[in-house]
Amino acid sequence: MAPHARSLKAVEVRRLTRRFGDVTILDDLDLDIAQGEFVALLGKSGSGKSTFLRALAGLDYEVDGTGSLRTPEKLSVVFQDARLLPWRSVIQNVTLGLGGAGREPGRKALEEVGLAGRETAWPIQLSGGEQQRVALARSLVREPALLLADEPFGALDALTRLKMHDLLRELCARHRPAVLLVTHDVDEAISLADRILVLDQGRLVEDLKVDIKGRRSHGDPRFGAIRSQLLSRLGVDVDDRSAA
Ligand SMILES: Nc1ncnc2c1ncn2[C@@H]1O[C@H](COP(=O)(O)OP(=O)(O)OP(=O)(O)O)[C@@H](O)[C@H]1O
Ligand SMILES: [Mg+2]
Repeated sequence: MAPHARSLKAVEVRRLTRRFGDVTILDDLDLDIAQGEFVALLGKSGSGKSTFLRALAGLDYEVDGTGSLRTPEKLSVVFQDARLLPWRSVIQNVTLGLGGAGREPGRKALEEVGLAGRETAWPIQLSGGEQQRVALARSLVREPALLLADEPFGALDALTRLKMHDLLRELCARHRPAVLLVTHDVDEAISLADRILVLDQGRLVEDLKVDIKGRRSHGDPRFGAIRSQLLSRLGVDVDDRSAA
């Protein structure tokens, strides 16, 4: 491989295997993610999405030693719950570990997620959606080359979730991190991602480019075609759903 091709990769996973006891959850997986590429990962509950994300985040020390895993040093993780420290103010949560030099970037990051002026609030004074915005600001203030997100909008109501999609799209366009977004929501994946993976029985059984330029509308027939393909991969009978 040409050296420049290698340098354009944010993630390179080879032969990643993870077992819990006798059960193989990730079975010899390979995956490349390009710099700035937005990848969504779908899969049934229990298929191993979070396990995969944890391995990429470097939070799992027991992945099979024969595989290899390359990720950028600067990576951030966002979870379903914002995981803010309740005894720290909003700005302190965002700039945790950055010292005084983080203050101005932290303020800017909060402004970017629509929370200007809330720096000194306590996490408990924020709504769930606002807390998740703080978590996004906290991850982006570090200018990560890779953003790993495990169902970051899973606990939010539908309207807030749509607003968060717009926000994430905007932030990613500006900062251009590579993204791996784990989600249950097929429409969320199609709205946001350049590429969608489906994990099943330890393998990536689908790797699909979303080639819809510009605004992606749910009513677009191309959107519908991708949705059907993904739902059938996930074992959801599309005809049953539309009949229901
Ligand atoms: N530390 C652990 N010890 C034993 N089994 C585990 C451990 N962590 C995860 N598992 C098992 O591995 C499987 C995959 O779990 P994982 O959390 O990765 O699934 P998931 O795809 O993220 O599911 P969900 O969509 O429900 O979040 C599950 O069967 C789970 O019980
Ligand atoms: Mg999970």
